[in-house]
Amino acid sequence: MTTAIGKSLSRIDGRLKVTGQATYAAEFNQEGQAHAVIVGSTVGLGRIESIDSAAVEKMPGVVAVISHLNAQRLAYNEHRGPIDPPAGERLHVLQGSEVRFFGEPVAIVVAETLDQAEHAANALKVTYSARPPQVDAHAGEQVVPAVARRPGARAEADVARGDADKALETAAVKVEAEYVIARENHNPMEPHATIAAWDGDRLTLWSKSQFVVNEQAEIAAVFGLPPENVQVICPFIGGAFGTSLRTWPHVTLAALAARHVNRPVKLVLTRKQMFFATGHRPYTLQRIALGAQPDGKLIGIVHEGAGETSRYEEFMEALTSVTSFMYSCPNVRTSYRLIPLDASTPTYMRGPGEASGIHALECAVDELAYKLQMDPIDLRRINEPQIDEGRQVPFSSRSMLKCYDLGAERFGWSRRTPEPGSMRDGRLLIGYGMANASYPCLFAPASARVRLLPDGTVEVEAAASDMGPGTYTSMSQVAAEYLGIPVERIRFSLGRSDFPATPPHGGSMTMASVGSAIRAACLDLQAKAAVLAAKGGGNAGLAGQSPEALEWRDGMLFVKGRSDRGVTYADLVSYGGESPLVGEGTAARDAETGQKYSMHSFGAVFAEVAIDPDVKTIKVRRALGAYGVGRVVNPKLATSQCIGGMIGGIGMAIMERTLLDRRNGCPINAHMADYLVPVNLDTPHIEAHFIDEEDTIVNPLGVKGLGEIALVGMSAAVSNAIHHATGRRVHELPIMIESLL
Ligand code: MOS
Repeated sequence: MTTAIGKSLSRIDGRLKVTGQATYAAEFNQEGQAHAVIVGSTVGLGRIESIDSAAVEKMPGVVAVISHLNAQRLAYNEHRGPIDPPAGERLHVLQGSEVRFFGEPVAIVVAETLDQAEHAANALKVTYSARPPQVDAHAGEQVVPAVARRPGARAEADVARGDADKALETAAVKVEAEYVIARENHNPMEPHATIAAWDGDRLTLWSKSQFVVNEQAEIAAVFGLPPENVQVICPFIGGAFGTSLRTWPHVTLAALAARHVNRPVKLVLTRKQMFFATGHRPYTLQRIALGAQPDGKLIGIVHEGAGETSRYEEFMEALTSVTSFMYSCPNVRTSYRLIPLDASTPTYMRGPGEASGIHALECAVDELAYKLQMDPIDLRRINEPQIDEGRQVPFSSRSMLKCYDLGAERFGWSRRTPEPGSMRDGRLLIGYGMANASYPCLFAPASARVRLLPDGTVEVEAAASDMGPGTYTSMSQVAAEYLGIPVERIRFSLGRSDFPATPPHGGSMTMASVGSAIRAACLDLQAKAAVLAAKGGGNAGLAGQSPEALEWRDGMLFVKGRSDRGVTYADLVSYGGESPLVGEGTAARDAETGQKYSMHSFGAVFAEVAIDPDVKTIKVRRALGAYGVGRVVNPKLATSQCIGGMIGGIGMAIMERTLLDRRNGCPINAHMADYLVPVNLDTPHIEAHFIDEEDTIVNPLGVKGLGEIALVGMSAAVSNAIHHATGRRVHELPIMIESLL
């Protein structure tokens, strides 16, 4: 083995990206392409009364105005992918006059140039009969999600052990609080974009997607086509955070428009349109009650959570799941409800479910520590579980205690004086806070193909995506590791729906699933190569050996333990006309492992804040995460992932929120001037540290995933630090200047 895994290589595609040579969806311009612009509803609920397209159709460059009045009737066949669509009935675009949310596409204008299309779209007169939408989660009815009743659902509606409510009545020390987390939008740099081109009844989509094989299946179902007629291509993604996991209506609209005008069509969403129908982190309401003995031992936990969804679909996330296994406690009750609103459907946003649920739990635990006059880490140590008490099974690995040790040491937690407001830097109030983080080790069947070429280089293919974590690089490392050749000789390709199928590039499962499939494909290739060599392939030096007697070393085959008569890849490939040599691999997790073990990444995250005592400006000065995520394939990329995630957590804590106008459901801050995200000046010194953790259970690579956990917990650490600095508990995110006045 060349031990390519574990090396801090820089991104293979870094140069392409910084020199503008990486091609993103909107850049695959096609010959004869027209431009489409979506017209969104300006009412939040109601019906389209009229669309006056005659004048607009005469405007310069306009090719077509498409609405429910003239749009093709679409099949909208059933498609049940792992994430798309959720339970309910997906939005049918331009199929009727009903309006379900503000910004819902009501027409699409196609023109020769983007300017002409925008101008015409702005001029299109649409009248509505409108009713007031209900977009206030606090006033909404909470319902039991239908999907939670399905066996094996990741988010269950009601879970209980012991009698938590009774335990809370008798608890010596108790805290109870309600937490509100604002709706957030993903706001990646790259907007959603699709270029659609038909060739007869075959459709090619160059489209921003974290899940090209799902986009292929979904669009095929929408148009009533066989999936093989649809090809989705997406080699690069400019950030996504979950917003490109589903196939949203604009993809359908691009394809529909292209068919309508019989030429390729490009559709790019504006920043404002990214707030309408491409998902968002749901607004959540949570209540946590914790009861403990005077020594800090937890005896009761109640966690009730509810998240918004749309009227037409049930979006679910694991909001309360972590509470059943994070701490040792005999009496735990959790419940999860949905609040249907007249709004578009939420979706997964980095650390989905856990980010919001753990925020509430970890703020409450901090509050309990203060009531008990204990160090928050000591309180957590006392309640460290030996097994997953919710499921009564062991953890595949759990390095929580090591995360406390490493994190506290590197952060300098011992410098903290517990009294709120007791630490100062000049006139600034300083606060330290910490929280636990966790995210499940998800896994889904994946496949990959490796091809050994006569020149000794290797092509690796999988339909995976790379939204930024460095998939191109890390997957090349996996292939190099298991083929025993230098990384430079690997060429990994992704982002095509006709490549071997992979799961969504999300849920922190890309390396676990796709990496395992690549490993399997490499082993398959080696086995085939050994058979070929034993048959006399290559320079015939190994003819007559049994394949089992051969081993792979430095990119050559040898008789085990010997260094003479090696056979090279090139020799093998040229033998017998079999060129190139192909290995195929799949990876799946057996159901038994999933039942026997509780598999999660864990971490401890820390934050230091500085708050101006007079004007209450909040600055996160330092952030640090210590993580147990199994094997780390590329520490440099992993660190960069974690830094990005922690920055997202800081945004969640003190900046990000999408506000809806109660009168019409309009997102009133749908632009980067008023939807705040941390920029460089808001980004503190950040460190990520990894526990040397071996997990032989989760998957053959031993990787537990780190994309999602990187965001989880940071909002609680910042909230707890703000309390430490000011003595104020703010139970609503984001925490802003006005929260502290
Ligand atoms: Mo991540 S929210 O699964 O893209």
